[in-house]
Amino acid sequence: MSYRIGFIGAGKVAWHLAPALKNSGNRIVQVISKSALSAQKLGDRVGCEHTDRITRLDKDIQILFLTVPDHALVDLINDISDYRGIVVHTSGTFSALRFACQKYKYGGMYPLQSFSIGRRLDLSKVPVFIEGCEPGVTEILVNLASGFTSETHLVGHEERRWMHLAAVWANNFTNHMMDNAYGIMNEHSLPVEWLEPLIRETFAKAIELGPQKSQTGPAIRHDKATLKKHVDLLSYSQELQVLYKRISDSIQSVSQVPKEDNL
Ligand SMILES: NC(=O)c1ccc[n+]([C@@H]2O[C@H](COP(=O)([O-])OP(=O)(O)OC[C@H]3O[C@@H](n4cnc5c(N)ncnc54)[C@H](OP(=O)(O)O)[C@@H]3O)[C@@H](O)[C@H]2O)c1
Repeated sequence: MSYRIGFIGAGKVAWHLAPALKNSGNRIVQVISKSALSAQKLGDRVGCEHTDRITRLDKDIQILFLTVPDHALVDLINDISDYRGIVVHTSGTFSALRFACQKYKYGGMYPLQSFSIGRRLDLSKVPVFIEGCEPGVTEILVNLASGFTSETHLVGHEERRWMHLAAVWANNFTNHMMDNAYGIMNEHSLPVEWLEPLIRETFAKAIELGPQKSQTGPAIRHDKATLKKHVDLLSYSQELQVLYKRISDSIQSVSQVPKEDNL
């Protein structure tokens, strides 16, 4: 079955989701975004009409994706109250039940991945978590997502927000740690590329062995002298010192690996 699909919000998620839905046989008929330029870029990418005017929403769209930041979803619910198709959000934390006061049908389609505009991304194994307001809507959304991924799962709001929280730790926080590592390298005129093999092995090993078994370094070795040296080296940044101590404490408190196993 092929659907007429529209997007409100032309950011990171829409950039990947719109072509994926198009490539699986649907028609993307309209993109609306806050700025005309964003709408145009995505509209051109999938070959459809684009506008920055919500009042121009095409009422014949069968499935309308709201790929906007969560805080914007709340206002949009009222802005599209005349719409009668199926409204879908892609948020990890937003409860689709907030659509329940409207006349349209609704659901959630949350892809557990980190999206960026311009990156090539294979969606075929990305888990997509689906929730519909009624079985008919759930079935439509599962079929839609099955067009681009083999990993569709029915998951309610409660589980989805726990997954989103876990995703923040796995992706946003680790990324921030790497940003700090790059900052230290840059600060001392060292090439950041030298970190790449370490970063690759860190993630590959965490997936293969599990993060607890993979942990190495001065904190898990309870190597107090090195921990102190590192804190002293960070004397130029109180923020990094605090972070370093907190994370080291946390590593030591959750570690179940005997000290002698850690090099
Ligand atoms: N990014 C991820 O990796 C990721 C992963 C899974 C789920 N999600 C979820 O997917 C949703 C979208 O996230 P995103 O990362 O794609 O956001 P984003 O990159 O910040 O893009 C949001 C888009 O919404 C537009 N917008 C904002 N307010 C609007 C309004 N009132 N009316 C119309 N358009 C509006 C923005 O417009 P302009 O560009 O014109 O300013 C932008 O194009 C969020 O619920 C997020 O939690 C994100």
